[in-house]
Amino acid sequence: MERKDIDSLLEKIEKLTAESIRDVEEIRVKFLGKKGEVTRLFEEFRTIEPELKKEFGKYLNELKTKAAEKIETLRENFAEFVEGSSLEDFTKPGDNFELGTRHPISLVREQILDIFGSFGYSVALGPEIEDDWHVFSALNFPPEHPARDMQDTFFINPDSSDPILLRTHTSSVQVRTMERQKPPIRVVCPGRVFRNEAISARAHCIFHQVEGLYIDKGVSFADLKQAILLFVQQMFGAQTEIRMRPSYFPFTEPSTEVDISCNICGGKGCNICKGTGWLEIMGAGMVDPNVLEASGIDSREYTGFAFGMGIERIAMLKWLVNDLRHYFENDVRFLKEFQSVI
Ligand code: PHE
Repeated sequence: MERKDIDSLLEKIEKLTAESIRDVEEIRVKFLGKKGEVTRLFEEFRTIEPELKKEFGKYLNELKTKAAEKIETLRENFAEFVEGSSLEDFTKPGDNFELGTRHPISLVREQILDIFGSFGYSVALGPEIEDDWHVFSALNFPPEHPARDMQDTFFINPDSSDPILLRTHTSSVQVRTMERQKPPIRVVCPGRVFRNEAISARAHCIFHQVEGLYIDKGVSFADLKQAILLFVQQMFGAQTEIRMRPSYFPFTEPSTEVDISCNICGGKGCNICKGTGWLEIMGAGMVDPNVLEASGIDSREYTGFAFGMGIERIAMLKWLVNDLRHYFENDVRFLKEFQSVI
């Protein structure tokens, strides 16, 4: 008998696995039974030279103890509760199962929908794969608009005269809602959108939006301003102020870009707001009468406002995330940061 025989047997035993309690019993017989491999080494032990006995005795006893322990551990996997059974130890600490975390994009989306839900908006969903009409034409995009170009939009059938594409904004869902429903309309449209952009810290070809639409008799720009102010104060804190800059979108007139006072420096100017004290958060405006008419809504009777924001952007400003790519990489170290956010 040699030391390496004992070592290799031990190694073999440590690697054993069992699928059932029967396997465990087979293992026990194979190693510790009367004709088992460990037992056989003990028999051989009788024949070794007396001066080696002390050393080998020690190794062999260790082997036997470790084999018995291993078998006991395997057996524990299949231990069922039997009243009075010594296998069930009620003093053991409970199993520690880790709770998952909600993705920051989901958290912010839910929060946005909750806030607008409290203003009476309902949620509308629509397809990610769309036709030209719902993404562009019904929204008053002129035929030569750059968004209709392959540089900016993913087309599924680029050569077709009847283009099918990945929606570039969820305004398409607003069109579908107007086609389906008579005013008053008050909806928020969350969803994934796609744009043909190079991926960087500040841009991604996939991102998430929530857009909103309110149409009724006598809806004015003042209503838009108030709705957005109330929203940002609930999202970023009661002290938050808004600023509206004139802008252009084909589907709204007038159009505006909305900024909030920087929630990091309180408007004094810092590196997040690049010293301006303001952070851009969404586009908005009064729905262009052409858009209402395209969906069969009488623009002399009804007016409305629309707005749209990127969820990633709102989440970045809320939690100072400095790279958009974090949202898509699913690094658990990043995701765990949001464990305590309900
Ligand atoms: N659809 C615009 C975008 O994706 C956002 C927007 C919505 C602007 C509604 C004005 C009104 O950028």
